[in-house]
Amino acid sequence: MKKRTLGGLGKNEPKRTQTNPISEKPKMNTNSELTKDYGKNHAFRPRQNKPKTNPIFGTNECIPLCYTAEPDKIALQIYPFGIDCPIVLKETLSDLRDEKMAEFKMDTSGSDRRIEPAQRIKRLPPYLFGRLNALKLTKRQQGADIIDLGMGNPSDRAPQIVIDKLCEAAQDGRNHRYSSSKGIKGLRKEIAKKYEANWDVQLDWETEVLACIGSKEGFSHLCLAMLGPGDTAIVPEPAFPIHNYSVALAGANVISVPLGCDEKFIDNIAMVCENLYPKPKLLILNFPHNPTAMTVDEGFFEPVVDLAKRLGIAVIHDFAYGETCFDGYKPPSFLSVKGAKDIGVEFITMSKPYNMAGFRIGFAAGNKDMLDHLATIKGYYDYGIFQAVQIAGIIALRSCDDDIIAQNERYRSRRDVVCEGLKRIGWEVEKPRATMFVWTKVPEASLGGKGTIDYAMDLMEHAEVAIAPGRAFGENGEGYMRIALVENEQRLRQAIRNISRFAQQKPIRKAKAKRQI
Ligand SMILES: Cc1ncc(COP(=O)(O)O)c(C=O)c1O
Repeated sequence: MKKRTLGGLGKNEPKRTQTNPISEKPKMNTNSELTKDYGKNHAFRPRQNKPKTNPIFGTNECIPLCYTAEPDKIALQIYPFGIDCPIVLKETLSDLRDEKMAEFKMDTSGSDRRIEPAQRIKRLPPYLFGRLNALKLTKRQQGADIIDLGMGNPSDRAPQIVIDKLCEAAQDGRNHRYSSSKGIKGLRKEIAKKYEANWDVQLDWETEVLACIGSKEGFSHLCLAMLGPGDTAIVPEPAFPIHNYSVALAGANVISVPLGCDEKFIDNIAMVCENLYPKPKLLILNFPHNPTAMTVDEGFFEPVVDLAKRLGIAVIHDFAYGETCFDGYKPPSFLSVKGAKDIGVEFITMSKPYNMAGFRIGFAAGNKDMLDHLATIKGYYDYGIFQAVQIAGIIALRSCDDDIIAQNERYRSRRDVVCEGLKRIGWEVEKPRATMFVWTKVPEASLGGKGTIDYAMDLMEHAEVAIAPGRAFGENGEGYMRIALVENEQRLRQAIRNISRFAQQKPIRKAKAKRQI
């Protein structure tokens, strides 16, 4: 039989002493029986590209590759003569008789082999909303009209002028290209103006403002840009889950401190920073707070800035609810404290004040270096927000102050309905002066010894109301529930009635009115 060339080495292949594996079994430098069988029965094909170490199997001895576009075929790269002399076996999966070969089928064959995620996925804390979401889906499929107060997903429309601008800008082909990852100039200028008008903060739009694909994207990527294995971030608890997940995904560790809004809270943080080695790198704050709706007053951030400067830690302030407020309360911006820009960044969003959650547009503002790090990561990962959305965002920022006032009024009146209703049925609640949430303590008698996750499941099952269990925001949230003000007043009243009837072990009365969102 004619001698054949092996392993893509072509004319210049080094001299080998081994015999041709077509006619004889290849001499294995591995203990793989598998490749031996293949050597007997199959033609070898030269491989053009360089050998790679397979990321899944972590070996260069015997590597299945996605060699063809045909889903039922794999190629098996083997190294009978060592790493310098790869040879490739190409075969359809259906021909793989050897049991050991089944290991390599992976997903292309529909086998039940699990492909493991990266370690960073494995270190995420359990997703405690998972069971609730699954039950909600099942109940809806069964025809239940779940009153969904679980997620802070605004249900009211974005201002009409913004929608019109979006449609107009979407018609313009120039906006169909990739945009700037940092956000277009006009948009960043508008944010600088907003900061000046609302919080008396001066920002250089070029270096101190950055647009994000929603503030959550910016927040997560800033954590990735700043933290890594061995680093720690302080996150007050209960916490908006992404504040923990982003730190975990960056490979760093979370130190939880009980949430507070007073001197004692800041003292606790100082104590953690002073006694921990290596000291934490980042402090994550969020006022007005999700899920508790806790707020702070003017002056709160001054000792925070002092502390961060003294101890050399950076601060991220999530100011998502900075404009969602009522009763004359105006949340202070972290950046309004002198020196804040030296050590921290603040995130704001268009999701809540302008009902533009689906548009995905938010901002980071403050410390130049931190924003540079974020821009670096974003520069690699994204091409910016759809430009038509950015243009619509400029219109919102310029012309929709009245819409924010109107939206806040909606939340205020829903808040009153919920708080008064809860008080009537004996739940402990304080009227929040900001956010779109009511945080309420469930009476022990209603819980009946259960945790809030199980209780939330019961409410969904029997009262057809979805509300978020406090435990899903951390251990300190146990015993509380978070109610999102995202349905109209009639539906909110219905929700309270359902909860009350469930507490009395009575079946709920189905509402006649259709859901209005
Ligand atoms: C505290 C907090 N930060 C950030 C976000 C996410 O905002 P965005 O839509 O801008 O990503 C939310 C949304 O619920 C939130 O509650």
